[in-house]
Amino acid sequence: MVESPSQQQTWSQRFESALHPAIARFNASIGFDIELIEYDLTGSQAHARMLAHTGIISPAEGAQLVAGLEQIRQDYRQGLFTPGVDAEDVHFAVERRLTELVGDVGKKLHTARSRNDQVGTDTRLYLRDQIDQIKQQIRAFQTALVELAEQHVETLIPGYTHLQRAQPVSLAHHLLAYVEMTQRDWERLGDVYRRVNILPLGSGALAGTTFPIDRHYVAELLDFDQVYGNSLDGVSDRDFAIEFVCAASLIMVHLSRLSEEVILWASEEFRFVTLTDSCATGSSIMPQKKNPDVPELVRGKTGRVFGHLQALLVLMKGLPLAYNKDLQEDKEALFDSVKTVSACLEAMTILMREGLEFRTERLNAAVAEDFSNATDVADYLAARNVPFREAYNIVGRVVKTSLASGKLLKDLTIDEWQAIHPAFEPDIYAAIAPRQVVAARNSYGGTGFEQVRQALVRARSQLNH
Ligand code: ARG
Repeated sequence: MVESPSQQQTWSQRFESALHPAIARFNASIGFDIELIEYDLTGSQAHARMLAHTGIISPAEGAQLVAGLEQIRQDYRQGLFTPGVDAEDVHFAVERRLTELVGDVGKKLHTARSRNDQVGTDTRLYLRDQIDQIKQQIRAFQTALVELAEQHVETLIPGYTHLQRAQPVSLAHHLLAYVEMTQRDWERLGDVYRRVNILPLGSGALAGTTFPIDRHYVAELLDFDQVYGNSLDGVSDRDFAIEFVCAASLIMVHLSRLSEEVILWASEEFRFVTLTDSCATGSSIMPQKKNPDVPELVRGKTGRVFGHLQALLVLMKGLPLAYNKDLQEDKEALFDSVKTVSACLEAMTILMREGLEFRTERLNAAVAEDFSNATDVADYLAARNVPFREAYNIVGRVVKTSLASGKLLKDLTIDEWQAIHPAFEPDIYAAIAPRQVVAARNSYGGTGFEQVRQALVRARSQLNH
């Protein structure tokens, strides 16, 4: 078997021959952990500075290592550094390149460090950036929702329970529900961040190190809030990744629910919305079709992120302390979750911004042609001293007879109303008009226009926070 020079360098003299090439490929993570390279370089620069700061290496050596790592960063950005599988992983790739660039001093970089605490550090640095970016994307999505909502305060849409028409609501109110959900997502990510932002570096392979390192100095350089207090936990904790994918899963739940609604609304059965050409696709065979591919894909991709959450939970559950190679499997799940949630947020933001044309005539007709004002009739009687449950039963009978005669509530004559109950007066017609039905729900957090306007103000000020 051919012994590659990289492997001679990678492992100790304990090994007499090289890995089987297929095993090398199987073992390698460079194909995906290259994603971490910038974070690996940043983490290694901080480590090198700490080694110099504590006198473990000389200041000149520290400076050489930092400069060499910076050179690798530039080379990588310019496409001049593209390590292959022979490097095994990004950490070895960088270390090997560093030694090529700066000579033997490069071999000092790994003093007082293990790939175990290194990879944990890289992953946290990566995830911090991704969380910041996803939080910004949530803000953009919320802004698009709020802008759409501002145009539709007085647009009415049927509100559903059990997917049965229940009570009409302001379309803005409906859209603002998603702003609330994603606000929780935004806050949850901030909370996850606190537990991502703990530094494992200095845990060594599992037990700490014999060198007089200064972990708090590294934490300060890399802007970590804390350092892990237990080295075994430091190298083997992936709670932060699971928490992130859990938060990502909830974001996907919210995007998927909205997607499902858009898909329904765009159907011929609902006809509440038309998808604009910039956000819809055609069929290769049925020329009349306009398909809601964007929300369908978002709904579909949601399962992927849930799958990653499950994968990470199962990955961890049987692992004895401390590091196990199984942990290499955390990366693809994490990276794909980040990419998926980010791509879905971007697509849904565009969909909200320019993809939907609400068919207001159709919506107005929808809320006028059903019995979704029945509760308001009961409320009308209850406000006139008929106990609510009794009023509810009376209205049930009214709906039954109206259905039988093919009439809507608004079509009943005043004599018919008064025959049902003497408390009905001509103002019943105004009370059950859809606009009034919505306006009247003026309780805090309700769909009344006044409440919705206040909710929009609150949402706006939250976005500017
Ligand atoms: N590529 C490895 C991972 O992603 C880096 C750490 C390897 N550590 C080890 N002891 N083999 O987990």
